[in-house]
Amino acid sequence: MPADLSPIDKAKFAAARRAVDHVQDGMRLGLGTGSTAAWMVRCLARRVHEEGLRVTGVPTSARTAELARELGIPVVGLDEAKWLDLTIDGADEFDPQLTLIKGGGAALLQEKIVATASDQMIVITDAAKAVAQLGAFPLPVEVVPFGWQTTKALIEETLVSMDVLGRDTSVRMNGAHPLVTDEGNYIIDLHLRRIGNPRQLALVMNQIPGVVETGLFIDICDMVIIGHGDGRLEIRDVNQGTVEHDHIDFAEDRNIFADLGE
Ligand code: 5RP
Repeated sequence: MPADLSPIDKAKFAAARRAVDHVQDGMRLGLGTGSTAAWMVRCLARRVHEEGLRVTGVPTSARTAELARELGIPVVGLDEAKWLDLTIDGADEFDPQLTLIKGGGAALLQEKIVATASDQMIVITDAAKAVAQLGAFPLPVEVVPFGWQTTKALIEETLVSMDVLGRDTSVRMNGAHPLVTDEGNYIIDLHLRRIGNPRQLALVMNQIPGVVETGLFIDICDMVIIGHGDGRLEIRDVNQGTVEHDHIDFAEDRNIFADLGE
């Protein structure tokens, strides 16, 4: 791997590389979205090429689909795969119960559908995303474009009775226009600062007409692999209640870009 990667990128790479050790021949895999997930796709492609590993990938965004295809990973849609063995994805925040905030990359809807349709979800991350309580990262909520300003006002009204610290909301922009997700929707970011009861908030938000889904992932993630810039790894398994420590040697990965023709 290139020596000039930032410590955060090295941490993301370390987590991604360790996560693909969980992939077995013949698996149907959910492929997450974001910079950490992109490392995972690269590491997976290397196993496909070097070991002849046979996998079928179900991407969670158009950009992950493009990267996987470019690197020679066979991809299909979720309905063709039907049910998945494992999804590996990044996150924006995770708490001690492995409840997540996702959607910083605007792919939360496909990510949640794909992760929910998987036997197991592994989250790969750097240590900065571990929090005692969720909410410092703005919670993304995907809404349909029709009447989105009314939906935003309803969300704000609903937040008054929720256990949160902040109540500002903003529509995510792409230049002068609202950003449009792969599903043709908009994202409203909720600046909550602290979410006292994620389960209640998710339930209530999902009742608002116009809301498609929130970026709260509850009881979906099974394991988080936390990478550090020096190659150290912490692996938390919420089902086993275990925490393991491991380490990867970056020297073995010097050729990952050359191997993949980058
Ligand atoms: C995309 C996501 C990403 O997993 C999340 O934003 C983390 O991204 P990165 O790995 O680039 O830090 O939820 O919708």
